[in-house]
Amino acid sequence: MINLSYDIDKLEYLIAQVMPEEEVRPWIRANRKAFTDMLAYYQCAMNEVETRFRILSTTLSLEFDHNPIESIQTRIKTTESMIEKMQRRGFPFSIEGIENNIYDVAGVRVVCSFPSDIYMLADAFLQQDDIHLIARKDYLEAPKRNGYRSLHLIVELPIYLHDRKKYVKVEVQLRTISQDWWASLEHKIKYKKSIPADVSAELGEKLLHCAEIAARLDHEMELISIKAALYTEEPPL
Ligand code: GTP
Ligand code: MG
Repeated sequence: MINLSYDIDKLEYLIAQVMPEEEVRPWIRANRKAFTDMLAYYQCAMNEVETRFRILSTTLSLEFDHNPIESIQTRIKTTESMIEKMQRRGFPFSIEGIENNIYDVAGVRVVCSFPSDIYMLADAFLQQDDIHLIARKDYLEAPKRNGYRSLHLIVELPIYLHDRKKYVKVEVQLRTISQDWWASLEHKIKYKKSIPADVSAELGEKLLHCAEIAARLDHEMELISIKAALYTEEPPL
C-alpha cells in the first residue's frame, strides 16, 4: 500500500532536482493534491488488475486441472524512479507528463505455473471489453539476448471514481516460476557495481545457459502436467 499522505518534504527535495529553486514551492502548492490523487489512481488500477487476474485464476482452474497462477506481485514506481525516467527520456516533470509517458508506474507481475498458462491468462484478460492494449512484448517468443523471458503487456483500463471514469495505464508482466527466479537473480547481479567486467561477462554467459535450461524445464514440466491431466479423478459418489 502506498502512503498517500506522501511525505511532502521528500517530494519537495526530489522536485528540486528537476526544477529551478523558485519554482519548487509554487509547484508543490499547486500540485500536491493532484500528485497524491495520481498515485491513488494508479493504486486503484493496479488493485483492479490484480483482482481480475485472481478471478481468472479461479474460473480457469474450474475448467482445467490446475491453478494457472502461482503468485501475483504488485508495485507502484517510486517517485525517485519516475523523476529519473522522465529526465532520462527528456520530458519536463509534470503530472500529465508522467501519465502520458511513463507506462510502468503501476506494475503487476503474474507468476504462472506453465508457459501455456501465460498465454491463456493474457488472452482471457485482453478479451475483457474495457481493457485497451497499448503494447505487447513477447519475450517468450523472442527472448532478450541475455536470456530474459516474460510476456509484457501495457494496458489501459477504467477505474470508477465517485464522479467519473478514468483510464489508467498498468504494466503487466507474466512469467513462469523459473523465469521469475531467473529474472530476480539476473536483476540482482546486473546492479552489483562491484563485479569486474570479466566476471560479469562470465556470469552473463552462465545466466544465458541457465535461461535455456529453465525454458527446457518449463516445457518438460508442462508435458508432464498435460499427461497427468488426462487421468482425471472420478468425483466421489
Ligand atoms: P523500462 O525498462 O521500464 O524503461 O522499459 P522498456 O521499454 O525497456 O521495457 P521492457 O518491457 O523491455 O522492460 C520492462 C521491465 O521488464 C523492466 O523494468 C524489468 O522489470 C523487466 N525486464 C526487462 N528486461 C529485463 C532483463 O533483461 N532482466 C530482468 N531481470 N528484468 C527485465
Ligand atoms: Mg520498468
